[in-house]
Amino acid sequence: MEFFHVIIRRPLVIAWFWLLLLVFVHNAEKSISASNYLVGLGSYDITGPAADVNMMGYANSDQTASGIHIRLRARAFIVAEPQGNRVVFVNLDACMASQLVTIKVLERLKSRYGDLYTEKNVAISGIHTHAGPGGYLQYVVYIVTSLGFVRQSFDALVDGIEQSIIRAHGNLHPGSVFVNKGEILDAGVNRSPSAYLNNPTAERAKYKYDVDKEMTLLKFVDDQWGPVGSFNWFATHGTSMSRTNELISGDNKGTAARLMEDWFDQKRAARTANENPRRVSNIIQNAPGNHREFLELASSFQSTSGKSVTKYLSIARRVRSSLRTAERPSFVSAFCQSNCGDVSPNVLGAFCTDTGLPCDFNHSTCGGKNELCYGRGPGYPDEFESTRIIGERQFKKASDLFTRASEKLNGKIDFRHTYLDFSKIEVTLPKQGGGSESVKTCPAAMGFAFAAGTTDGPGAFDFKQGDNTGNPFWKLVRNVLRTPSKEQTDCQQPKPILLDTGEMKQPYDWAPSILPVQILKIGPMVILSVPGEFTTMAGRRLRDAVSVVFKEKVHVVIAGLTNTYSQYVTTFEEYEMQRYEGASTLYGPHTLSAYIQEFTKLAAAIVSGGTVEEGPQPPDLLKKQISLLPGVVVDSTPLGVKFGDVSTDIPKNSTFKKGDMVTIVFWSACPRNDLMTEGTFALVELLQGQDTWVPVYDDDDICLRFKWSRPSKLSAQSHATIEWRIPQLAASGVYRSHAKEDVGIIAISCCCCCLEWVDPATAQPQHPLLFSILVSAEASMMRETKKNEEEDEGPFFVVFEGSF
Ligand SMILES: *[C@@H]1O[C@H](CO)[C@@H](O)[C@H](O)[C@H]1NC(C)=O
Ligand SMILES: *[C@@H]1O[C@H](CO)[C@@H](O)[C@H](O)[C@H]1NC(C)=O
Ligand SMILES: [Zn+2]
Repeated sequence: MEFFHVIIRRPLVIAWFWLLLLVFVHNAEKSISASNYLVGLGSYDITGPAADVNMMGYANSDQTASGIHIRLRARAFIVAEPQGNRVVFVNLDACMASQLVTIKVLERLKSRYGDLYTEKNVAISGIHTHAGPGGYLQYVVYIVTSLGFVRQSFDALVDGIEQSIIRAHGNLHPGSVFVNKGEILDAGVNRSPSAYLNNPTAERAKYKYDVDKEMTLLKFVDDQWGPVGSFNWFATHGTSMSRTNELISGDNKGTAARLMEDWFDQKRAARTANENPRRVSNIIQNAPGNHREFLELASSFQSTSGKSVTKYLSIARRVRSSLRTAERPSFVSAFCQSNCGDVSPNVLGAFCTDTGLPCDFNHSTCGGKNELCYGRGPGYPDEFESTRIIGERQFKKASDLFTRASEKLNGKIDFRHTYLDFSKIEVTLPKQGGGSESVKTCPAAMGFAFAAGTTDGPGAFDFKQGDNTGNPFWKLVRNVLRTPSKEQTDCQQPKPILLDTGEMKQPYDWAPSILPVQILKIGPMVILSVPGEFTTMAGRRLRDAVSVVFKEKVHVVIAGLTNTYSQYVTTFEEYEMQRYEGASTLYGPHTLSAYIQEFTKLAAAIVSGGTVEEGPQPPDLLKKQISLLPGVVVDSTPLGVKFGDVSTDIPKNSTFKKGDMVTIVFWSACPRNDLMTEGTFALVELLQGQDTWVPVYDDDDICLRFKWSRPSKLSAQSHATIEWRIPQLAASGVYRSHAKEDVGIIAISCCCCCLEWVDPATAQPQHPLLFSILVSAEASMMRETKKNEEEDEGPFFVVFEGSF
């Protein structure tokens, strides 16, 4: 460059010195601000047993898992100061966090990372889907309908959470975090408006709506890789799927996460042209142009059988894993739960199934009966459609907030955590007209309206919401269990006690009394980990009380159902109404005031740099757990039929259009033999060229449903039904589909049919495709047989291919 050739005079040297210094300082500032934190995200499959296990949420013992709508995942983020504090937040596609799961995860983190991750800086939160396997909580009330503890559900969660944190930890890189907020007006309505109306008029006047409409989103940007994910908090129940649904699903939030992660991957794939643009509708086809030729190609795929396969066959891999590259972190997007206590996603309102008229406003009953009153989602009467719509509304808002996020988080990372015995917290309340009074929380108890359920899932018993008298039958049952003391009855007033759970200890604790409360703080972002479902107004009061403690401007979110579960938290005034949420507020009318008092102390400790007491440890009841759910005894098929054989095929030479449903039934084994964690039970493959099959949809796709059933309850035989609704985005082509089975045998069946595009302009068939559907499962064999096989040749695998 030219200036190397000039004679440098002194003033010029000085000028250059200053210029260089300026550039240096500027760059240093930029690099400091570009990577003020270390950021890492991770995700892992926690689907768990997809058969026989009661689903968590509706407490409906008839609702047992029988297949998969979409898979469940644990999604984690870690944010760390390079030389300082760090926080971990894990969001579970599960109904709620479990104390026992949290305890066991923390034990594993301790043995793996020492004191890096403890109960103080790790939060584990549930999205409140009512369509996941149950039996993973430790207190009796929450495992009655699942016939006790279910080890497989529990292990899937503990393993998956640990793996998600390991991945997030492994992905820690310099990066930054942005926050953004926006409103979603049509994803939640208040399901107990008569209780909300009992809050003071002046307080209600401060708010435009009777539910919170705001979504708060964090966007994580890695200095090297760019955006790596987002977490958001928004309050709406995971009850778009009804109490009779039997397919495992993340409900509306799980759906939103699936849509958002796929949206980002597609965008990225579209940007990087040389990557496999799966699911992008512009796949270039080299299939024959004319329909007849195409049918011939489809019918040329003959069935094969008896082919040995291994777990590394395409069926064992998931569609999404084929998109991943080894070094680049996969995009993780979590939709977290907030103060959803009284918020229903069934936004059309609650109606009587007999008359079609709206339910009684004050009691949510129909002619005096609660079990006829049901909330309707926007896709009514199709609950899958309602789930998709409420999921899509959250996804759309989140992707918009993500794209436009510009407020960068700066400042210290901090956290406080304490355990409290909620059966006896003394709360000091300001008295009207000056002074203060002292009140108490009570041992846990559930009121009669608990048994009535909600409009999202009415209870099976004839109780009215807001029942202050009680039904004699239940009074009797309750008395057998435990008669509440006068002190307890007085403390819980005006709640009529149905189950005095806090004082029931046989065969082990019925309800928690020791609860964790926790604050995680990333600069101005404040996350309140609450172990329950706060109602809208309860959440507002808590957020406001914490906000004023911090001198700076803060963004406060409530992370609901976190670290453990203790049902609902209403305001004092809502508690007076004793609807479902008030009846399920365990520790009496002053439960919320106790939370506000204790969270305020945690916030004050952060501001002053002080410490808080650790508090009493919650019990570990793992050794006391009783499990009554039997395991899989044996799987079998009818004479002459092999696992994986097609039972009901797609009709020969079938042609389908977008929007059509393709259904195929295979002979199967029980999905509990192998959960196919990070794998799939079903796969749809697309033919590219003459003989290359590429996976395009699996059991984690909304368009593909894996349904499992036995011909009769005690039968050892079973069927896997794959239903594939051909999506509008699907590329035309030849597809095939599999289902998979495994503890001794992996059976893969295949059938092909073609899909044609009808060009709407010309009504001419375009770009036909061939597809194949595969199903997979592992079979439980009689012990002797299995042992022999293992001795002789180790685990063996067979492929069966059906005809098409
Ligand atoms: C299916 O199509 C092929 C090729 O066009 C034809 O040979 C065959 O007879 C058809 N089968 C049936 C059952 O229609
Ligand atoms: C609900 O209850 C309140 C208070 O008892 C009463 O004033 C109101 O009329 C009731 N509303 C309906 C629609 O029944
Ligand atoms: Zn709930």
